[in-house]
Amino acid sequence: MYESLTIESLHAIRDEALASLSLLEAVDVDGLEAWRVQYVGRRGLLTLLLREIGSVPIPQRREIGAAGNAVKSILQQSLDGRLSAASGATKPTGGEIDITLSGRHRPLGRLHPTTRMVREITNAFRDMGFQQQDGPEVEWERYNFDLLNIPKDHPSRDLWDSIWLDEIDREGHRRMLLRTHTSPVQARVMEQTNPPVRIVVPGRCARYEATDATHEWHFFQVEGLAVDEGITFTDLKGTLFEFARRIFGAQRRVRFRCDFFPFVEPGVDMSIDCFSCDGQGCSLCSQTGWIEILGAGMVHPQVLRGVGYDPERYTGFAFGMGVERIAILKYGIDDIRNFYSNDLRFLSQF
Ligand code: PHE
Repeated sequence: MYESLTIESLHAIRDEALASLSLLEAVDVDGLEAWRVQYVGRRGLLTLLLREIGSVPIPQRREIGAAGNAVKSILQQSLDGRLSAASGATKPTGGEIDITLSGRHRPLGRLHPTTRMVREITNAFRDMGFQQQDGPEVEWERYNFDLLNIPKDHPSRDLWDSIWLDEIDREGHRRMLLRTHTSPVQARVMEQTNPPVRIVVPGRCARYEATDATHEWHFFQVEGLAVDEGITFTDLKGTLFEFARRIFGAQRRVRFRCDFFPFVEPGVDMSIDCFSCDGQGCSLCSQTGWIEILGAGMVHPQVLRGVGYDPERYTGFAFGMGVERIAILKYGIDDIRNFYSNDLRFLSQF
């Protein structure tokens, strides 16, 4: 087409090239590359034409050579300008907003498994007419032990190794501690209210304890208390049976056995039949077919007397359970320390 190298053929190729360049879209990077190959690439039209320089007669060679270089640099500059405009259209330079980037993903938060378990448990009791209450995590010795019929020299004080605070009384005894259970709220509520009382009390507790897969030094409990005229052990059994079936399924059976807690008489522990093996015996239930889930009993007359209730007139039952333990059983968690290590790999499963 442009076989002879002349000023005219150079200008013709320049005009054609610039015209076709102006038709390309701003961001058409592939089109720009094709254009480069067609005109200024190694086998491009301009490049091939300029190779003819040897056949141009000597007198015109200087002039045509200069014109050829001028056309070449115009085309190259035009291309460079378009290329930088094209990259500016897709990539942000400093301070600009790149609207082509997808938005930042913000994961949705969720409730801690302990909180969820607390709510599941308290909801079950609320549906049965229990009111939710709370009490202080830092507790007086009087509520944690004394009013719960745990005498100072009684070995049952050693049931829980306590975390005492440096609150010293006149005799030099420490009097405040991190509560070792939620039972002190029983005494607090009964002191303040007349029967009937029906409360469910979730809350954090602490014991001076080495941690391992089944022990944490702090944990949650849910306490329950019902006191009124005419409350019997049957009410205790019926209420806790209903609770067990709510949390662990309508097929559950329960078992009560004698146990000792100074603030109840009689005292029991309640087990459910193992939901993993249906009572056949497996590793979850240590081959017994039963899993212990809580302690309970009829409120000790001494406790009633201590808060000013007449034990001849009023009776009641109380129970307490470990929240993490219930969650561990329900969700098949193998280490209690998972609850408080803030590991999202664990937490995001709930
Ligand atoms: N407070 C007891 C514990 O921490 C549980 C319990 C509560 C037992 C109420 C009986 C009645 O182990």
